[in-house]
Amino acid sequence: MTLPHPTPTSETPPGAGTTRVVELPPRRVPRWRRLLRRVTAALRAVWWRHRLAAFGAGSRLEAPERIYGGAGIAIGRGVHVWRGARLETHRPEDDLVRLRIEDGCVIHPHAHITAAASVRIDAGALLASHVYITDHDHDAGDEDDPPVSNRRLVVAPTRIGAGAWLGERVMVLKGVTIGAHSVIGAGSVVTRDVPAGVVAAGVPARVIRTLRPDADEGRIAA
Ligand SMILES: CC(C)(COP(=O)(O)OP(=O)(O)OC[C@H]1O[C@@H](n2cnc3c(N)ncnc32)[C@H](O)[C@@H]1OP(=O)(O)O)[C@@H](O)C(=O)NCCC(=O)NCCS
Repeated sequence: MTLPHPTPTSETPPGAGTTRVVELPPRRVPRWRRLLRRVTAALRAVWWRHRLAAFGAGSRLEAPERIYGGAGIAIGRGVHVWRGARLETHRPEDDLVRLRIEDGCVIHPHAHITAAASVRIDAGALLASHVYITDHDHDAGDEDDPPVSNRRLVVAPTRIGAGAWLGERVMVLKGVTIGAHSVIGAGSVVTRDVPAGVVAAGVPARVIRTLRPDADEGRIAA
């Protein structure tokens, strides 16, 4: 049997190749589920407040998760980190916050974010599934002392600007700053700074268009 796709309704969707903007209806979650979610989140928040440098009101960090160096991780208010996240900070001995996720960020499943110097994700950023963000590489410069055993990292701070949107499987490498409200296309590898208010895509990511012609290039919100 061949199922019609998409299922016909009174309105026939436009044909392939037609791009337009549609508005999603508010998400409907049954009351019992909202309640269960709230109770679970509140219980887990007690734990995270104890384990992390900060865990703001109304934030959720879904199980299963893998947290390493929690004392170096600060999460703001109203942040939602979906299941399967791997959040890591290295060099916990110097007692610094190295990974900061500011208010209102949403991080979809299976993100891997790792900080040895500083990774900062500014308020309201949206990270799609399987993003990878780092501020370091292994030191692979000496073949007699390879990365598998040398425990040396090459570091440079990485920052994702406020309101930025990173598509599925984006990788942001060390030392990169992505400007506020910029969009990074699915599957891109970002190796250099991206200005504010643009769309960038590809491997390596390049600016493909400007969202706001008046964008303050290179700057990110404080
Ligand atoms: C980046 C993106 C938003 C751009 O959308 P758009 O402005 O409609 O761009 P277009 O489709 O007009 O593409 C413009 C050009 O960029 C290229 N391009 C678009 N997205 C790309 C990507 N992810 N990687 C590489 N190149 C890309 C196109 O091939 C096209 O190149 P051309 O001019 O040589 O033909 C979109 O392509 C994308 O990647 N969305 C992410 C979806 C996603 O991950 N969703 C997760 C939900 S949270």
